[in-house]
Amino acid sequence: MAHKLAFIGFGTVGQGLAEILLRKQQLVRQEMGEDVQVVAISDAIKGSVYNPDGLDLALVLDVVKRTGSLESYPDERSTQKGWDSLKTIRETNADTIVEVTFTNVRTGQPAIDHCRAAFAAGKNVVTSNKGPAALQYAELSALAQEHGAYFGIEGTVMSGTPTLRMPLLTLPGNDITEIRGIFNGTTNYILTCMERGMTYHEALARAQQLGYAEADPTSDIEGYDAMYKVIILANVVMGVPLQPHDVTCRGIADITPADIQRAGAQGKRWKLVSRLVKRGADVIASVAPEMISLDDPLASVSGTTNAITYECDLIGPVTVMGAGAGRTETGFSLLSDLIYIAHQAKRGHGMLV
Ligand code: HSE
Repeated sequence: MAHKLAFIGFGTVGQGLAEILLRKQQLVRQEMGEDVQVVAISDAIKGSVYNPDGLDLALVLDVVKRTGSLESYPDERSTQKGWDSLKTIRETNADTIVEVTFTNVRTGQPAIDHCRAAFAAGKNVVTSNKGPAALQYAELSALAQEHGAYFGIEGTVMSGTPTLRMPLLTLPGNDITEIRGIFNGTTNYILTCMERGMTYHEALARAQQLGYAEADPTSDIEGYDAMYKVIILANVVMGVPLQPHDVTCRGIADITPADIQRAGAQGKRWKLVSRLVKRGADVIASVAPEMISLDDPLASVSGTTNAITYECDLIGPVTVMGAGAGRTETGFSLLSDLIYIAHQAKRGHGMLV
């Protein structure tokens, strides 16, 4: 018996997970209680391979690294070339779809359609794409539940740093009255570099080199990337469904070197702060640059690091700080969903998140 995976999309994050699965094969088997086998990979640019008995993951990674494509994966048993993601989702014998396509965050597509097709076929989805959880969380989680499938989305906020499952599993009994944090590494990196004298453009170019910025960095700079994460936290942790128009959103494009100096002179620091504040049955949601004082835990979050503070009525503020993006970091978030699915399935439980 093995838990079978189909990767839809095989870019940085997908390859990050594949590398971890290879490197930690034994540990993963122990945690999951069974082997993990990749049976299909379907990518819009690299093409597709499918073998119901399992692909040779080391060979796949090697071929992709050398040729940038899956076309020369040398396995006569493997079928299906080209890119037909929906066909792969419906027709493979995979238990779980790893949805890591290049998805437009504003429309959530093609990831939303991939989730729908997977759940309708009774397959679990693990994804680090924000669109499905931000824009269609209620519909997709209901569909997953209806078909006995799991919807793993831990990596959508702060990559592998625990943000969604953690408060639900370890803080129940508390009323979480406010969540605030730094959810975008690119803008935090730019602000940190500007404090150190770098120009805005130099810092942005460096964040792009590091692979943190979105393909279109406008989404980072204007605060939209953080806004989608705020919506996911509202949906999952506060149980209040929000739409993009419910979030007041302002990015860092207007922050000037003079603003940075003014903050420094006041013993403060600019941060792009995302905030959810409970008001009765509603929440007030915003993303905006704020001058925060140096004794605030968020002030010490520098560079591409992210952080989140949950204000809890019983235990006070709980802050978690860690990676917000990255190949291995986001790859790990998907592994954490897979292991959680296996644990829940073993206990006969559904998915908490
Ligand atoms: N572009 C994002 C960031 C990466 O800079 O934090 C993950 O959403």
